[in-house]
Amino acid sequence: MNTAPLPLTSPNRGVDTSRSPLPSYTELLRRLAGQEHALRYWDTLSDHQRTTFAVQLLSLNLDELRQLYQRRHETSVLPAPERIGPVSVIPPDSKQHVERGIDALSRGEVAVLLVAGGQGSRLGFDAPKGFYPVGPLSRKSLFQLHAEKVLALQQRYGGRVFTLIMTSPATHGPTVAFFEHHRYFGLTPSDVAFFQQGTMPALCLETGKLLLETPSSLFLSPDGHGGTLTALASSGLLSQLRERGVRTVFYFQVDNPLVRIADPAFLGHHLAAQAEVSSKVVAKRNAVERAGVFATMDGRCVVIEYSDLPRSLAEETQADGRLRLWAGSPAIHAFDLEFLQRMTGEGCLPFHVARKKVPHVDDPSPVRENALKFERFIFDVLPRAERWLLMETRREEEFAPLKNASGDDSPATVRAALLADSARRLQQAGAEVVGEVEVSPLYRLEDFSGRQVSGYVE
Ligand code: UTP
Repeated sequence: MNTAPLPLTSPNRGVDTSRSPLPSYTELLRRLAGQEHALRYWDTLSDHQRTTFAVQLLSLNLDELRQLYQRRHETSVLPAPERIGPVSVIPPDSKQHVERGIDALSRGEVAVLLVAGGQGSRLGFDAPKGFYPVGPLSRKSLFQLHAEKVLALQQRYGGRVFTLIMTSPATHGPTVAFFEHHRYFGLTPSDVAFFQQGTMPALCLETGKLLLETPSSLFLSPDGHGGTLTALASSGLLSQLRERGVRTVFYFQVDNPLVRIADPAFLGHHLAAQAEVSSKVVAKRNAVERAGVFATMDGRCVVIEYSDLPRSLAEETQADGRLRLWAGSPAIHAFDLEFLQRMTGEGCLPFHVARKKVPHVDDPSPVRENALKFERFIFDVLPRAERWLLMETRREEEFAPLKNASGDDSPATVRAALLADSARRLQQAGAEVVGEVEVSPLYRLEDFSGRQVSGYVE
């Protein structure tokens, strides 16, 4: 058994080994108290494998993992129903403050933040989800559609729009290479920044033990879209945003190609209200739709996960027959930069626990849930805001998430939504639509007024 200190041969994000060498095998074993099984293949590993594995193990917060495992049965306990109320929401199409939003964009005071670190396991696509060729006629990727919308904002309003793209260890390299290969889809490379979110190990459901993906590595997964906050701070991007004069960060998710990125009316309302956080809202399809809902809790704004919402509360209706908690979340937010800075200083968001099937060295093809995974959710930051604002948007105009390989929220439904959206917007702009149409985000729809349009318009 090798007991010599381990040489450092690989970069290490979690542990500063520049001053002290990695510990000996015995010391590593001692530090792993309760998780020593992780070293059971140690004798078979090369020096390089030992080094990288030791670095991974030393970056863990074992106390936190122990506590998370102990609290695995705690479900989120909602307060008494009388403390939970409906939210007030600005109706769609309110253009009241649109000039203010345009002004912020033209001054370069708005950055956009695209989160693309997820594993996309439900879609089952063999590449990062952002590569998915979702354009119904153009076959443009999700990333291209988003990038062209940002480009269109810059062309329309003149300001630079700093674009932040959050990746995870699994999606980072391919995502950067994809943007480079496609010349950033026309964006200026120095206005695009990629940053990686953190990871969390999975634990065995039965025992709370760390799971090994290989004999020399842990099974790790991204720490949820709530990992955005810590990753923004640790990457140094929060400071860069400040230096660039950014005041508002528009947050959206890679899987929604209908999102109106940095919609000036939404930004204008957010700024006029001096809100710390603003969010878009879509009416829930029905009481049992699997979507988070906005509510007030003791006067604060919260999003309640569908799995935490008791059916009785979900089904409650108002006098007009509408659901009391009707406001679903399409995961579109605007954050005040100072608020984000304050939040990164106030400690991390809580972890949510999920039971998942995780293939690992002892169970390569699990047939049932065998592990716990831990994720943070971005919307847990909402109740920390003193001032917040919600604005309704229509689902068919702004929310078509790509989640599944078939059925709801699948390529077929998302492409149909994109076609319907193009047709509707062209008709509103005074065009005559013939057959299926898809319009590039780079077009101004007014240019089609009085024209006949069909097919893919680029
Ligand atoms: P989802 O919660 O739908 O997860 O992410 P997912 O990884 O895309 O898909 P499944 O659940 O494995 O099938 C919603 C958005 O949040 C991002 C995703 O990339 C997507 O844009 N996300 C999710 C992250 O950036 N990091 C995460 O750790 C999780």
